[in-house]
Amino acid sequence: MSTSAPSRPAQRDLSAAPLLVAARGGQPPRVPVWFMRQAGRSLPEYRALREGVPMLKSCFDPEMLAEITLQPVRRHGVDAAILYSDIVVPLFAAGVDIDIVPGTGPVVAAPIRTADAVAALPVLEPRQVTAVAEGVGLLVERLGTTPLIGFAGAPFTLASYLIEGGPSRTYEHTKALMRSDPRLWHTLAGRLADVALTFLRAQLDAGADAVQLFDSWAGALSLREYREFVLPHSAKVLGGLADYDVPRIHFGVGTGELLTAMREAGADVVGVDWRIPLDEAVRRLTADGSPAPAVQGNLDPALLGASWPVIEAEVRRVVAEGRAAAGHIFNLGHGVLPGTDPEVLTRVVELVHELEP
Ligand code: CP3
Repeated sequence: MSTSAPSRPAQRDLSAAPLLVAARGGQPPRVPVWFMRQAGRSLPEYRALREGVPMLKSCFDPEMLAEITLQPVRRHGVDAAILYSDIVVPLFAAGVDIDIVPGTGPVVAAPIRTADAVAALPVLEPRQVTAVAEGVGLLVERLGTTPLIGFAGAPFTLASYLIEGGPSRTYEHTKALMRSDPRLWHTLAGRLADVALTFLRAQLDAGADAVQLFDSWAGALSLREYREFVLPHSAKVLGGLADYDVPRIHFGVGTGELLTAMREAGADVVGVDWRIPLDEAVRRLTADGSPAPAVQGNLDPALLGASWPVIEAEVRRVVAEGRAAAGHIFNLGHGVLPGTDPEVLTRVVELVHELEP
């Protein structure tokens, strides 16, 4: 892990970029909008480019990852690009035997459930993600005034894939290990925090303008479990980026009960899924007297398949409720579903941009 002072490429002047203004709690002239998973299978141009190329190969091809990242920016006119990569990319780069199986997700050859397996987990060296950093370098040259969001998976979500061996609905092995052997859990989560931090610092050193820490599956935990077993490790990741002075977005699904703790971990922007509205999220985040936060999210991705009047009403509702926040970034409550009609996404961007912030 690099501990030297950040050395970043010559900065683009993005001081007026709506996404960065909103992320810092300001009022841009329009509501910034981007979509989690905006790059990917909803786009025919993505499917054409990826034809015959395994996901993890495409993530280490600087030209390809840059092009895939740019596709939704060109097509939809969104206010941010998000790096095309995956949360398991730094684990793969470090040498973990892991693959992304189409239609399933990350699959680990030998699930990590013992002290020996945790001890054998490799450390990520920045040189192992040079190809990703090169892709980021191409992107900041090509993006003009559009910010680039880098990202990583948070320790809990990464651990859940490593311990379960793949996607899970119950997280039974993860919770059993966490509760039966807290020391081993903390060792594993601490090492995954280092992996995430090294990966994020590599993206920021190469020029990324903001970061999102995805703790997608943290909503499986109680608030008490989250505080004891997860918060310190996510705080290590987010706190380890403080010297870059870039906005840090922190997101998970089903985290309505965890929002305050997720903010405490070091978030500048709190991600919200579709289960509670943004004004209710702000109410929860300010109940203890804390200042209003910046928030992101809330449109249910499944509703993008509904009729346009339904979508339009939902977009207007989210924008109206977002006014309760200090800074609102329009987004979905989780990623774009592969079957989403991309024309609908473009229309949502146009509508958000027409509405009064
Ligand atoms: O546009 C973007 O948001 C950037 C791309 C992105 C991908 N993965 C590309 C991808 C991002 C931000 C991720 C993060 C990621 N990966 C998360 C956190 C976000 C979330 O959805 O909660 C998680 C949990 C993963 C793990 C993962 N990788 C899953 C669950 C899947 C889907 C499996 C499937 O095929 O249904 C993947 C694969 C993946 N990651 C794809 C893409 C474009 C699809 C693979 C393909 O096109 O072949």
